[in-house]
Amino acid sequence: MGYRVLALESSCDEFAGAVIEDGIEVLASVVASQAGIHARYGGVVPEVAGREHLRNLAPVMQATLESAGLDWDDLDAVAVTQGPGLGGSLLVGVNAAKAAAWARGLPLIPVHHIAGHLYANWLRPARDDWDDAPPPFPLVALVVSGGHTELFWMQDHERVERIGQTRDDAAGEAFDKVGRLLGLPFPGGPEIERAANAATPERIAALDPLPRAWLPGTHDFSFSGLKTAVLNRVRKAEHAGEAVDVPAMAARFQQSVTHVLAEKTARAAEELGAACVIVAGGVAANGALREALRERCSVPVRVPPPRLCTDNAAMIGAAACYRQSPAPLDIDVFSTSGPEVFSAGR
Ligand code: KG4
Ligand code: ZN
Repeated sequence: MGYRVLALESSCDEFAGAVIEDGIEVLASVVASQAGIHARYGGVVPEVAGREHLRNLAPVMQATLESAGLDWDDLDAVAVTQGPGLGGSLLVGVNAAKAAAWARGLPLIPVHHIAGHLYANWLRPARDDWDDAPPPFPLVALVVSGGHTELFWMQDHERVERIGQTRDDAAGEAFDKVGRLLGLPFPGGPEIERAANAATPERIAALDPLPRAWLPGTHDFSFSGLKTAVLNRVRKAEHAGEAVDVPAMAARFQQSVTHVLAEKTARAAEELGAACVIVAGGVAANGALREALRERCSVPVRVPPPRLCTDNAAMIGAAACYRQSPAPLDIDVFSTSGPEVFSAGR
Protein backbone atom coordinates (compact mmCIF):
# COMPACT_ATOMS: atom_id res chain seq x y z
CA MET A 1 0.00 0.00 0.00
CA GLY A 2 1.33 3.40 -0.98
CA TYR A 3 1.57 6.75 0.74
CA ARG A 4 -1.90 8.29 0.67
CA VAL A 5 -2.65 11.96 1.12
CA LEU A 6 -6.07 13.51 1.57
CA ALA A 7 -5.81 16.96 -0.01
CA LEU A 8 -8.11 19.98 0.28
CA GLU A 9 -8.14 23.12 -1.87
CA SER A 10 -10.31 26.18 -1.13
CA SER A 11 -8.26 29.20 -2.22
CA CYS A 12 -10.90 30.79 -4.44
CA ASP A 13 -14.40 29.69 -5.46
CA GLU A 14 -13.88 25.92 -5.62
CA PHE A 15 -13.94 23.62 -2.63
CA ALA A 16 -12.09 20.50 -3.70
CA GLY A 17 -10.98 17.24 -2.14
CA ALA A 18 -8.72 14.48 -3.48
CA VAL A 19 -6.83 11.40 -2.42
CA ILE A 20 -3.41 10.97 -4.04
CA GLU A 21 -1.20 7.91 -3.77
CA ASP A 22 2.59 8.19 -4.00
CA GLY A 23 2.34 11.61 -5.66
CA ILE A 24 1.11 10.13 -8.95
CA GLU A 25 -2.13 8.16 -8.66
CA VAL A 26 -5.45 10.06 -8.39
CA LEU A 27 -7.64 7.77 -6.24
CA ALA A 28 -10.38 10.43 -6.07
CA SER A 29 -10.83 14.06 -7.09
CA VAL A 30 -14.01 15.98 -6.29
CA VAL A 31 -14.57 19.67 -7.10
CA ALA A 32 -17.55 21.72 -5.88
CA SER A 33 -17.51 24.77 -8.13
CA GLN A 34 -19.41 27.96 -7.33
CA ALA A 35 -18.94 29.48 -10.79
CA GLY A 36 -22.72 29.53 -11.30
CA ILE A 37 -23.22 31.54 -8.10
CA HIS A 38 -20.55 34.17 -8.84
CA ALA A 39 -21.51 34.51 -12.53
CA ARG A 40 -24.45 36.61 -11.33
CA TYR A 41 -22.03 39.19 -9.91
CA GLY A 42 -19.53 39.07 -12.80
CA GLY A 43 -16.71 37.97 -10.48
CA VAL A 44 -15.95 36.09 -7.28
CA VAL A 45 -17.51 37.68 -4.17
CA PRO A 46 -15.10 36.73 -1.34
CA GLU A 47 -17.57 36.50 1.53
CA VAL A 48 -20.03 34.46 -0.53
CA ALA A 49 -17.18 32.11 -1.54
CA GLY A 50 -16.07 31.48 2.06
CA ARG A 51 -19.60 30.80 3.24
CA GLU A 52 -20.29 28.41 0.35
CA HIS A 53 -17.08 26.54 1.26
CA LEU A 54 -18.41 26.14 4.77
CA ARG A 55 -21.50 24.42 3.36
CA ASN A 56 -19.55 22.27 0.92
CA LEU A 57 -16.62 21.05 3.01
CA ALA A 58 -18.19 18.07 4.81
CA PRO A 59 -20.06 16.70 1.76
CA VAL A 60 -16.95 17.12 -0.42
CA MET A 61 -14.66 15.37 2.09
CA GLN A 62 -17.16 12.54 2.43
CA ALA A 63 -17.64 12.22 -1.33
CA THR A 64 -13.86 12.19 -1.80
CA LEU A 65 -13.31 9.27 0.60
CA GLU A 66 -16.31 7.40 -0.82
CA SER A 67 -15.10 7.88 -4.37
CA ALA A 68 -11.65 6.56 -3.38
CA GLY A 69 -13.28 3.65 -1.56
CA LEU A 70 -11.21 4.50 1.50
CA ASP A 71 -11.65 5.15 5.18
CA TRP A 72 -9.85 7.65 7.42
CA ASP A 73 -7.63 4.79 8.65
CA ASP A 74 -6.22 4.36 5.12
CA LEU A 75 -4.69 7.86 5.04
CA ASP A 76 -1.10 8.90 5.84
CA ALA A 77 -1.36 12.71 5.77
CA VAL A 78 -3.66 15.67 5.19
CA ALA A 79 -2.54 18.36 2.74
CA VAL A 80 -4.15 21.75 2.22
CA THR A 81 -3.63 24.97 0.27
CA GLN A 82 -2.22 27.54 2.70
CA GLY A 83 -2.15 30.41 0.17
CA PRO A 84 -2.13 32.56 -1.83
CA GLY A 85 -5.83 33.18 -2.38
CA LEU A 86 -8.85 34.75 -0.71
CA GLY A 87 -8.27 34.87 3.05
CA GLY A 88 -11.79 33.84 4.04
CA SER A 89 -11.81 30.99 1.52
CA LEU A 90 -8.41 29.68 2.62
CA LEU A 91 -9.41 29.74 6.28
CA VAL A 92 -12.23 27.26 5.68
CA GLY A 93 -10.02 24.65 3.97
CA VAL A 94 -7.09 25.07 6.37
CA ASN A 95 -9.33 24.80 9.38
CA ALA A 96 -11.00 21.66 8.01
CA ALA A 97 -7.58 20.12 7.30
CA LYS A 98 -6.35 20.97 10.80
CA ALA A 99 -9.43 19.39 12.36
CA ALA A 100 -8.97 16.22 10.31
CA ALA A 101 -5.22 16.02 11.03
CA TRP A 102 -5.75 16.59 14.74
CA ALA A 103 -8.64 14.15 15.08
CA ARG A 104 -6.85 11.37 13.18
CA GLY A 105 -3.32 12.07 14.42
CA LEU A 106 -2.08 12.66 10.87
CA PRO A 107 0.64 15.10 9.72
CA LEU A 108 -0.66 18.37 8.24
CA ILE A 109 1.14 19.42 5.04
CA PRO A 110 0.58 23.03 3.91
CA VAL A 111 0.96 23.55 0.15
CA HIS A 112 1.57 26.72 -1.87
CA HIS A 113 -1.21 27.02 -4.45
CA ILE A 114 1.23 27.68 -7.30
CA ALA A 115 3.33 24.64 -6.40
CA GLY A 116 0.06 22.73 -6.54
CA HIS A 117 -0.65 23.92 -10.08
CA LEU A 118 2.84 22.87 -11.20
CA TYR A 119 2.70 19.42 -9.62
CA ALA A 120 -0.47 18.58 -11.58
CA ASN A 121 2.14 17.68 -14.20
CA TRP A 122 3.42 14.82 -12.04
CA LEU A 123 0.04 13.07 -11.81
CA ARG A 124 -0.55 10.00 -13.98
CA PRO A 125 -3.46 11.54 -15.96
CA ALA A 126 -0.97 14.17 -17.14
CA ARG A 127 1.47 11.50 -18.34
CA ASP A 128 -0.55 9.82 -21.07
CA ASP A 129 1.82 10.63 -23.90
CA TRP A 130 4.95 10.31 -21.77
CA ASP A 131 5.23 6.58 -21.08
CA ASP A 132 4.63 7.33 -17.43
CA ALA A 133 7.90 9.21 -16.97
CA PRO A 134 7.83 12.31 -14.75
CA PRO A 135 8.80 15.63 -16.39
CA PRO A 136 12.58 15.64 -16.88
CA PHE A 137 14.68 18.28 -15.09
CA PRO A 138 15.89 20.92 -15.63
CA LEU A 139 12.66 22.48 -16.86
CA VAL A 140 10.93 25.79 -17.45
CA ALA A 141 7.45 26.03 -15.93
CA LEU A 142 4.80 28.51 -17.07
CA VAL A 143 2.02 29.17 -14.56
CA VAL A 144 -0.98 30.99 -16.01
CA SER A 145 -3.98 31.31 -13.71
CA GLY A 146 -6.54 33.87 -12.63
CA GLY A 147 -4.12 35.41 -10.15
CA HIS A 148 -0.66 34.52 -11.51
CA THR A 149 1.46 34.62 -14.63
CA GLU A 150 4.92 33.38 -13.73
CA LEU A 151 7.88 31.58 -15.24
CA PHE A 152 9.93 29.25 -13.04
CA TRP A 153 13.28 27.58 -13.60
CA MET A 154 13.20 24.19 -11.84
CA GLN A 155 16.54 22.39 -11.66
CA ASP A 156 15.02 19.77 -9.38
CA HIS A 157 12.33 19.59 -6.67
CA GLU A 158 14.44 21.69 -4.29
CA ARG A 159 15.96 24.29 -6.59
CA VAL A 160 13.12 26.42 -7.93
CA GLU A 161 13.62 30.00 -9.02
CA ARG A 162 11.07 32.49 -10.30
CA ILE A 163 12.56 34.09 -13.42
CA GLY A 164 9.59 36.11 -14.68
CA GLN A 165 6.17 37.39 -13.71
CA THR A 166 3.44 39.74 -14.82
CA ARG A 167 3.91 43.43 -14.17
CA ASP A 168 0.16 44.06 -14.06
CA ASP A 169 -2.75 41.73 -14.87
CA ALA A 170 -2.43 37.95 -14.74
CA ALA A 171 -3.25 36.15 -18.01
CA GLY A 172 -6.50 34.71 -16.63
CA GLU A 173 -7.46 38.10 -15.22
CA ALA A 174 -6.97 39.61 -18.69
CA PHE A 175 -9.19 36.88 -20.21
CA ASP A 176 -11.86 37.56 -17.58
CA LYS A 177 -11.75 41.36 -17.98
CA VAL A 178 -11.82 41.21 -21.77
CA GLY A 179 -14.64 38.68 -21.57
CA ARG A 180 -16.62 41.23 -19.57
CA LEU A 181 -15.76 44.01 -22.08
CA LEU A 182 -17.11 41.81 -24.87
CA GLY A 183 -20.29 41.07 -22.93
CA LEU A 184 -19.43 37.40 -22.30
CA PRO A 185 -20.37 35.59 -19.06
CA PHE A 186 -17.92 35.08 -16.17
CA PRO A 187 -15.39 33.48 -16.14
CA GLY A 188 -14.25 34.94 -19.45
CA GLY A 189 -11.42 32.50 -20.24
CA PRO A 190 -13.41 29.53 -21.50
CA GLU A 191 -16.00 31.88 -23.06
CA ILE A 192 -13.33 33.71 -25.07
CA GLU A 193 -11.91 30.40 -26.26
CA ARG A 194 -15.39 29.27 -27.35
CA ALA A 195 -16.09 32.60 -29.12
CA ALA A 196 -12.67 32.55 -30.83
CA ASN A 197 -13.29 29.03 -32.10
CA ALA A 198 -16.46 30.30 -33.78
CA ALA A 199 -14.63 33.08 -35.68
CA THR A 200 -13.88 32.50 -39.37
CA PRO A 201 -10.38 33.34 -40.74
CA GLU A 202 -11.95 36.03 -42.98
CA ARG A 203 -13.65 37.77 -40.05
CA ILE A 204 -10.44 37.64 -38.01
CA ALA A 205 -8.41 39.02 -40.92
CA ALA A 206 -10.86 41.94 -41.16
CA LEU A 207 -9.69 43.12 -37.71
CA ASP A 208 -6.23 44.59 -37.13
CA PRO A 209 -4.06 42.52 -34.78
CA LEU A 210 -3.97 43.65 -31.14
CA PRO A 211 -0.68 44.74 -29.49
CA ARG A 212 1.86 42.44 -27.80
CA ALA A 213 4.04 43.60 -24.89
CA TRP A 214 7.45 41.95 -25.28
CA LEU A 215 9.35 43.66 -22.41
CA PRO A 216 12.69 42.83 -24.05
CA GLY A 217 15.57 41.62 -21.93
CA THR A 218 13.24 40.21 -19.27
CA HIS A 219 11.10 37.11 -18.81
CA ASP A 220 8.30 39.35 -17.51
CA PHE A 221 4.83 39.84 -18.96
CA SER A 222 2.28 42.65 -19.20
CA PHE A 223 -1.33 42.37 -20.31
CA SER A 224 -2.95 45.64 -19.22
CA GLY A 225 -2.06 47.43 -22.49
CA LEU A 226 -3.74 44.68 -24.45
CA LYS A 227 -6.86 44.94 -22.31
CA THR A 228 -6.93 48.73 -22.86
CA ALA A 229 -6.52 48.21 -26.61
CA VAL A 230 -9.63 45.98 -26.64
CA LEU A 231 -11.51 48.57 -24.57
CA ASN A 232 -10.56 51.32 -27.06
CA ARG A 233 -11.69 49.22 -30.04
CA VAL A 234 -15.01 48.48 -28.34
CA ARG A 235 -15.55 52.17 -27.51
CA LYS A 236 -14.65 53.23 -31.03
CA ALA A 237 -17.16 50.78 -32.49
CA GLU A 238 -19.83 52.01 -30.06
CA HIS A 239 -19.21 55.65 -31.02
CA ALA A 240 -19.43 54.77 -34.69
CA GLY A 241 -22.67 52.92 -33.99
CA GLU A 242 -21.13 49.66 -35.23
CA ALA A 243 -21.49 46.24 -33.66
CA VAL A 244 -18.30 44.66 -32.31
CA ASP A 245 -17.46 41.37 -34.00
CA VAL A 246 -17.16 39.49 -30.70
CA PRO A 247 -15.82 36.15 -32.03
CA ALA A 248 -13.19 37.90 -34.19
CA MET A 249 -12.15 40.24 -31.34
CA ALA A 250 -11.95 37.29 -28.96
CA ALA A 251 -9.73 35.48 -31.48
CA ARG A 252 -7.45 38.51 -31.91
CA PHE A 253 -7.13 38.88 -28.14
CA GLN A 254 -6.40 35.18 -27.66
CA GLN A 255 -3.78 35.34 -30.43
CA SER A 256 -1.95 38.18 -28.69
CA VAL A 257 -1.91 36.48 -25.28
CA THR A 258 -0.92 33.04 -26.54
CA HIS A 259 1.73 34.45 -28.91
CA VAL A 260 3.50 36.33 -26.10
CA LEU A 261 3.22 33.45 -23.61
CA ALA A 262 4.52 30.87 -26.10
CA GLU A 263 7.33 33.04 -27.44
CA LYS A 264 8.64 34.15 -24.05
CA THR A 265 8.41 30.67 -22.54
CA ALA A 266 10.24 29.16 -25.53
CA ARG A 267 12.97 31.80 -25.32
CA ALA A 268 13.50 31.14 -21.60
CA ALA A 269 13.71 27.39 -22.27
CA GLU A 270 16.28 27.95 -25.03
CA GLU A 271 18.40 30.38 -23.02
CA LEU A 272 18.51 28.16 -19.96
CA GLY A 273 18.84 24.82 -21.75
CA ALA A 274 15.66 23.23 -20.41
CA ALA A 275 14.89 19.57 -21.09
CA CYS A 276 11.17 20.29 -21.22
CA VAL A 277 8.49 22.91 -20.63
CA ILE A 278 5.57 22.33 -18.29
CA VAL A 279 2.45 24.49 -18.20
CA ALA A 280 -0.08 24.86 -15.38
CA GLY A 281 -3.00 26.94 -14.10
CA GLY A 282 -6.49 27.60 -15.42
CA VAL A 283 -5.37 29.31 -18.65
CA ALA A 284 -3.34 26.17 -19.51
CA ALA A 285 -6.75 24.64 -20.32
CA ASN A 286 -6.78 26.90 -23.39
CA GLY A 287 -6.34 24.88 -26.59
CA ALA A 288 -4.80 27.78 -28.56
CA LEU A 289 -2.13 28.25 -25.88
CA ARG A 290 -1.26 24.55 -25.91
CA GLU A 291 -0.97 24.63 -29.68
CA ALA A 292 1.13 27.82 -29.75
CA LEU A 293 3.55 26.41 -27.16
CA ARG A 294 3.91 23.05 -28.92
CA GLU A 295 4.55 24.84 -32.22
CA ARG A 296 7.11 27.27 -30.86
CA CYS A 297 9.10 25.22 -28.33
CA SER A 298 11.96 23.00 -29.48
CA VAL A 299 11.71 20.81 -26.36
CA PRO A 300 8.67 18.72 -25.38
CA VAL A 301 5.79 20.67 -23.83
CA ARG A 302 3.71 19.04 -21.14
CA VAL A 303 0.26 20.28 -20.09
CA PRO A 304 -2.12 18.47 -17.73
CA PRO A 305 -5.64 17.63 -18.93
CA PRO A 306 -7.96 20.68 -18.54
CA ARG A 307 -9.66 19.35 -15.34
CA LEU A 308 -6.24 19.32 -13.64
CA CYS A 309 -5.36 22.82 -14.95
CA THR A 310 -8.20 24.67 -13.23
CA ASP A 311 -8.33 24.62 -9.42
CA ASN A 312 -8.56 21.11 -7.95
CA ALA A 313 -7.22 19.24 -4.92
CA ALA A 314 -5.43 16.45 -6.80
CA MET A 315 -2.63 18.88 -7.66
CA ILE A 316 -2.35 19.88 -3.99
CA GLY A 317 -1.99 16.22 -2.99
CA ALA A 318 0.70 15.73 -5.63
CA ALA A 319 2.69 18.76 -4.47
CA ALA A 320 2.43 17.56 -0.86
CA CYS A 321 4.10 14.27 -1.84
CA TYR A 322 7.10 15.93 -3.51
CA ARG A 323 7.49 18.92 -1.20
CA GLN A 324 6.66 17.31 2.12
CA SER A 325 7.14 19.36 5.22
CA PRO A 326 4.58 18.82 7.93
CA ALA A 327 3.58 21.95 9.87
CA PRO A 328 2.30 22.54 13.40
CA LEU A 329 -1.44 22.93 13.85
CA ASP A 330 -1.25 26.67 14.56
CA ILE A 331 -0.22 27.80 11.04
CA ASP A 332 -1.97 30.80 9.50
CA VAL A 333 -3.07 31.25 5.87
CA PHE A 334 -1.42 33.79 3.56
CA SER A 335 -3.54 35.70 1.08
CA THR A 336 -0.96 37.45 -1.12
CA SER A 337 2.17 36.11 -2.78
CA GLY A 338 3.31 34.54 0.49
CA PRO A 339 6.58 32.83 1.33
CA GLU A 340 9.62 32.86 -0.96
CA VAL A 341 8.82 31.31 -4.37
CA PHE A 342 6.61 28.49 -3.19
CA SER A 343 7.67 26.92 -0.01
CA ALA A 344 4.78 26.76 2.42
CA GLY A 345 4.72 26.49 6.17
CA ARG A 346 5.41 29.04 8.82
O1 KG4 B 1 -6.06 28.22 -11.85
P1 KG4 B 1 -7.43 28.74 -11.82
O2 KG4 B 1 -8.58 27.75 -11.88
O3 KG4 B 1 -7.67 29.62 -10.55
C1 KG4 B 1 -6.66 30.46 -10.05
O4 KG4 B 1 -5.79 29.96 -9.30
O5 KG4 B 1 -6.72 31.64 -10.42
O6 KG4 B 1 -7.55 29.77 -13.02
C2 KG4 B 1 -8.73 30.45 -13.31
C3 KG4 B 1 -8.50 31.28 -14.55
C4 KG4 B 1 -9.68 32.19 -14.86
O7 KG4 B 1 -9.18 33.49 -15.12
C5 KG4 B 1 -10.27 31.58 -16.12
O8 KG4 B 1 -10.88 32.52 -16.98
C6 KG4 B 1 -9.06 30.96 -16.78
O9 KG4 B 1 -8.31 30.43 -15.70
N1 KG4 B 1 -9.39 29.89 -17.72
C7 KG4 B 1 -9.14 29.97 -19.05
C8 KG4 B 1 -9.68 28.78 -19.62
N2 KG4 B 1 -10.21 28.03 -18.60
C9 KG4 B 1 -10.02 28.73 -17.45
N3 KG4 B 1 -8.55 30.92 -19.78
C10 KG4 B 1 -8.46 30.70 -21.12
N4 KG4 B 1 -8.95 29.61 -21.74
C11 KG4 B 1 -9.57 28.63 -21.03
N5 KG4 B 1 -10.05 27.56 -21.67
ZN1 ZN C 1 -5.37 28.22 -9.18
